[in-house]
Amino acid sequence: MSILVTGGAGYIGSHTVRALRAAGRELVVLDSLELGDAQALLGADLVVGDIRDAELVHEICTRHAVTQVVHFAAYKAVGESMSQPGRYWRNNVAGTVDLVEAVLAAGVREFVFSSSCSVNGTPAQVPLDEDAPIHPESVYAQTKATTETILGWYGVTHGLRTVNLRYFNAAGASSDGAIGEDWTYSQNLVPLVMKAALGRIPELQVFGDDYPTPDGTCIRDYIHVEDLADAHVRALAHLAEGGEGANLNVGTGVGSSVLDVIRATERIAGAKVPYRIVARRAGDPTSTYADPARIQATLGWTAQHTLDDIITSAWNWHSAHADR
Ligand code: WQD
Repeated sequence: MSILVTGGAGYIGSHTVRALRAAGRELVVLDSLELGDAQALLGADLVVGDIRDAELVHEICTRHAVTQVVHFAAYKAVGESMSQPGRYWRNNVAGTVDLVEAVLAAGVREFVFSSSCSVNGTPAQVPLDEDAPIHPESVYAQTKATTETILGWYGVTHGLRTVNLRYFNAAGASSDGAIGEDWTYSQNLVPLVMKAALGRIPELQVFGDDYPTPDGTCIRDYIHVEDLADAHVRALAHLAEGGEGANLNVGTGVGSSVLDVIRATERIAGAKVPYRIVARRAGDPTSTYADPARIQATLGWTAQHTLDDIITSAWNWHSAHADR
């Protein structure tokens, strides 16, 4: 009875691995380490390899008596997905098919998938619930929507039960400072705000302040990475208890603007965040935040951390690891 965690050496994966170990669950991580960091696993079982290596995946499942999979391994840079779509179709979609075929052959029928609220594109209304139209606006988002469909069909043909966890904006670091996000590749707001506050970049570019929101900047649902990890622990328990598959929005239900994030950082860090208002970024929705009713009802999960908790943990992590 153990869990195969693909991409477990990544940002959300490593926090989930830690939460699963704290909950006493047996697990093994499969990660290519192309983008992941083995140090973040804090000693958890790691096999370095690719989700497309069917023989390796089958061998891992057999050797570790795997009964569940949580699948993080994927590329997630929205901009890159539009300039290198083949990389995303092959890894995120074809890679998942190869993975699923291998774990099914080993008898696995319980699957948690790292999906995204971006499958809905620009929401017609907020808060966003799981019945909103599927309308991806990037190749990255389409790979998530397509993978959800493929996993649904494996439910029809092979009895695979899948919980699709649709993340909102994951941010922050472990509350005890043990692990956090590697900001090397990230173009997400919170790590860039930290870089600006720490002088690693001259200033943050704020992509537009002329949106129809209270302060003119875009609104997002920032969710603490430890809350996100807890949602995975609960989703796996739900499936282990015979629970049905589900699509679940994983967000706090609270919207925060770009300027809210900047002001919170300045207040908590006691440092200025140099920024400049520039043109809007193509594809940015004005506002998106979750309706968390279904995940609360299905998993008994609610976010425990606030935006201040997110910023405090991110500041503590990045100011102690400004080299990465
Ligand atoms: C947040 C806000 C920007 C950078 C993310 C993930 C996506 C999905 C949903 C999981 C926006 C503004 C940003 C900057 C800025 N999650 N911003 N200057 O676009 O909401 O999407 O959450 O799958 O994968 O990327 O996140 O952090 O890029 O932007 O003004 O330098 O910050 O305009 O309003 P986004 P983000």
